[in-house]
Amino acid sequence: MIKVSFSLVVVIVAILIWFIRVDEPISKHTDLEKCPFCYGRGYCKTMDSLRLRFESFGESVNNMFGVKNVLFTKDGVVLKKLGHDKEIDELDAVICTNHGLLRGCDLGSIQSTIDYRKAIRQLLKEFVANIKVCPNPDLFLEHVEYLMDDDADFYQKIWMFLMINPEPIILQLLDGTGKSAVPKYFGACGRLVAVEDAGKPLNDFKDSRWLDRLNLALQLLLAAKSLTEDHPYFRFYLTDVSPDNVAVDDNLNLKIIDLENLIIVNKDESGLKHHHSEVFNFDGFAYSEEEVCSSSISDHNYYAICKLLISKKAEWPMMNGGLLHSIPQEIATAHPELETMIQLCVEPVQNFTRFEVADDLIDLFQDILNQ
Ligand SMILES: Nc1ncnc2c1ncn2[C@@H]1O[C@H](COP(=O)(O)OP(=O)(O)O)[C@@H](O)[C@H]1O
Ligand SMILES: [Mg+2]
Repeated sequence: MIKVSFSLVVVIVAILIWFIRVDEPISKHTDLEKCPFCYGRGYCKTMDSLRLRFESFGESVNNMFGVKNVLFTKDGVVLKKLGHDKEIDELDAVICTNHGLLRGCDLGSIQSTIDYRKAIRQLLKEFVANIKVCPNPDLFLEHVEYLMDDDADFYQKIWMFLMINPEPIILQLLDGTGKSAVPKYFGACGRLVAVEDAGKPLNDFKDSRWLDRLNLALQLLLAAKSLTEDHPYFRFYLTDVSPDNVAVDDNLNLKIIDLENLIIVNKDESGLKHHHSEVFNFDGFAYSEEEVCSSSISDHNYYAICKLLISKKAEWPMMNGGLLHSIPQEIATAHPELETMIQLCVEPVQNFTRFEVADDLIDLFQDILNQ
């Protein structure tokens, strides 16, 4: 009897918490009182009108308890705090200390006299931010200033993004570059940024129809190419490729969603083609940041995508068994070179560069899809 009534109390409390939280306005999550140490205010009005989504149990738990600090809405928008609670607390503590105040200080009342432009240059030069901008971050900073200079306190904001997560800067830099391989950035309110909801994680598609998976593999290679080639001034190399960091919408459009960890290299104006080719490593996924930085172009993105997501040798927590597992017999017969070419993208042999293999793979995937 006691057991039954205890369970009943738990259920009733859970239902109550559910109702209270479901009705919670998004403004409860914005921490606006921390401004101007926040990501902006321009999107507040729109954000207020968004409705949180509670479609699945996982999503509800996430939206209610903020495990990942990402909130899903019914309006095609995802709201991101850009860091886990511990990272955010740490950033707040750094801001307090930088102003000679104790941890837990009131951020909203700080009148800062810090030269944030200088602080940003320092962060980039010393590679303290999650992104590595090389060989020289000056051009990058110029572009970021141009992007964000209509924003009040914009140097302070850029500094905040570089300290916690540069994703909003990268999304704005990449906006309109080639066929967009990344979600759209909508704006910020307090400590939340709004980005396009790019759909479900790639892992949810691991058992989809083979031709659909081929379509996704094609988009992965095109995203790798676009990030390497399409921006007029920079090449973007992904250093945290995983199925969790790729999303796919209902129409099978694929986007790279987690742009926190990157190497950004200035495009070499000299026209000299100095390629850097990532070397296959049996013990896992290894690459040289220095070499990627010092080359005018690197095949790093193809290496990462082929090895971690497409190859049948990919292992959990990457795309276990590869996105193109279980090739249908008629496709394997018609295209006996398919598996070999995927492996060549992971581990090229002499005479073929990974760039050539990737281009050939793109053509082959397109041919099969068009048949
Ligand atoms: N733009 C987006 N569209 C859809 N889902 C997203 C988007 N951004 C993040 N997510 C979801 O939130 C998760 C965590 O976000 P992410 O940016 O990868 O942060 P982190 O890996 O640092 O926790 C992702 O794995 C994905 O499931
Ligand atoms: Mg992630």
